[in-house]
Amino acid sequence: MRILALAGSLRGGSLNRKLLDAAVGVVGDRAEIDRLDLRERPLPLYDGDLEERDGLPDGARLLKERIQAADALLIATPEYNHSIPGALKNAIDWASRPPGNPFRGRTALLMSASPGSYGGVRGMLALRQVLMALHVHVLPASVQVPRADQAFDAGGRLREERTRAALEKAVAELVRVGALIGRPD
Ligand code: FNR
Repeated sequence: MRILALAGSLRGGSLNRKLLDAAVGVVGDRAEIDRLDLRERPLPLYDGDLEERDGLPDGARLLKERIQAADALLIATPEYNHSIPGALKNAIDWASRPPGNPFRGRTALLMSASPGSYGGVRGMLALRQVLMALHVHVLPASVQVPRADQAFDAGGRLREERTRAALEKAVAELVRVGALIGRPD
């Protein structure tokens, strides 16, 4: 089983990147992980004229291929103004363009971390809606980390046992359901 793991934040010190690292650690050898960094190939803002003139940018083609090759998605995203960060939404929009819909039938676990007390849950819900439009099987379980600026120790380990347990349970569900459903193509 192959999992594409990505964070919705671009910055190096991202709390969501830390959460993603912790989740990838929990997956261990239960799946092959493809780590995607949205900074790897910067994408232009989606523009239909650009698409008509030049087709998909290289970064969008690569993104589609990597989603296509995955059985499951593991996404940790911040919320910006109660919704999805623009860079993540832009990447999803590009990847959703024809030919094909690489998201279709993939299983996803959504996570969010925020220094605030809601743990980014509203952004995560907005992402859920978008992925469901693309026919992703978004797991009902999700992981939120509120007060995330204090949630990790110096080694990147989640301090609270309760949060570690929630992460382990959710990751186990992703591995279980992702393996059952697999890739449709
Ligand atoms: C934020 N932040 C934020 N936090 C939150 O809990 N709810 C929100 O609506 C917002 N809105 C928001 C908008 C914008 C434009 C920025 C830049 C930030 C704060 C955000 O949660 C915080 O910066 C996180 O640390 C961002 O995630 P990463 O980069 O640490 O993963």
